[in-house]
Amino acid sequence: MSALEVTLVTRDGERLQFPCAATDNVLRAAETAGYFLPAMCHEGTCGLCHARVAAGAFEMGAHSPSALSTKDAAAVLLCRCHPRDNLTVDLPYNRSQVLRHRVPVREAVIESLTPAWHGAVSLSLRLQPDPETGSAAEFSPGQFMELTIPGTEIRRAYSLANLPNWEGRLDFLIRLHPGGAFSTWLAEQAKPGDKLTVRGPSGAFVLDELSARPRCFVGGGCGLAPILSMLRHLGEFQDSQPTHLIFGANREAELLPEQEVETLRASLPQLGVTLAVSQPGSGWDGFTGTAPAALEAWLAEATEAIDIYACGPPKMLEAINAIVDQRGRGDRVIAEQL
Ligand SMILES: Cc1cc2nc3c(=O)[nH]c(=O)nc-3n(C[C@H](O)[C@H](O)[C@H](O)COP(=O)(O)OP(=O)(O)OC[C@H]3O[C@@H](n4cnc5c(N)ncnc54)[C@H](O)[C@@H]3O)c2cc1C
Ligand code: FES
Repeated sequence: MSALEVTLVTRDGERLQFPCAATDNVLRAAETAGYFLPAMCHEGTCGLCHARVAAGAFEMGAHSPSALSTKDAAAVLLCRCHPRDNLTVDLPYNRSQVLRHRVPVREAVIESLTPAWHGAVSLSLRLQPDPETGSAAEFSPGQFMELTIPGTEIRRAYSLANLPNWEGRLDFLIRLHPGGAFSTWLAEQAKPGDKLTVRGPSGAFVLDELSARPRCFVGGGCGLAPILSMLRHLGEFQDSQPTHLIFGANREAELLPEQEVETLRASLPQLGVTLAVSQPGSGWDGFTGTAPAALEAWLAEATEAIDIYACGPPKMLEAINAIVDQRGRGDRVIAEQL
């Protein structure tokens, strides 16, 4: 049987065409054709290769239900999407997020590892100079790197919290999960001077800077790192679009520190901030509820269509998609699932 034709349409309207056998999946066929799309696991669990089929029949292979946080029947994971017809697929990102080369793998050294707020650590790495890639840390705010535990094959994705820089500095905010492989290595063994392999940058959770809509960022816990990077970028360029941040936590102690909020406000004076706590103590006078509930309340006051940048677990993203569908104002959700 001859290969079918797949056309990927990027958010900024570019069309990328390549053949794909019915036995193959769209992600692998794209890579064979030299288009490297945002993806990580290649096995239907991370959710990073999500897209939407605009035309043509397809079959989805086995995947984790949590990897697709929408009930939209046309939503697919490209690493599990087998064409049964010529396919047209809308990608939720611009052409610049589709690479023409494999994601770079580089060596880095731990510069510092310090406690951050409630149960998290701040990890700073410095990239080692590389004859091909140089020593700068080049990435788009919102992207992540995959870090490998030294001496193992265990890799985990962590979002960059800082801004691109010439010095090769990569900053991460990592929540420690008791019993987790990377968490245990960080808590018990990692120390400044250790070398580790990093792969990246990757990911399509990046700002759509061409959009003129107001922006609302929604995150909680470790979902804050890419949002911090995006907000710092907007502050650096003195962006003037209306911008709101909703940060959700279970308890007050897990909230973003006040000093961090003030630093963000100093560079982005128009920034509105809602701190939402779902199980607050008796003295709490802020929003009581989850981050999606705080978003729903905030959207009730918004008259325009909003670009919502959401980063967090599948349940949070599902709740946000449901709120946006129900509101029916054409809001757009740009999401990263952790
Ligand atoms: C694109 C992307 C970006 C991300 N960015 C960030 C970020 O910026 N910051 C961040 O903190 N995280 C981030 N994550 C999550 C991160 O990749 C890891 O999944 C997370 O840190 C857990 O890794 P781990 O190796 O410590 O736990 P894993 O070994 O993967 O374990 C996962 C869970 O299982 C539990 N577990 C593991 N072993 C046991 C056991 N023996 N018994 C009981 N329970 C167990 C752990 O408690 C943990 O909750 C991101 C994920 C993605 C996909
Ligand atoms: S690459 Fe992870 S779900 Fe497709």
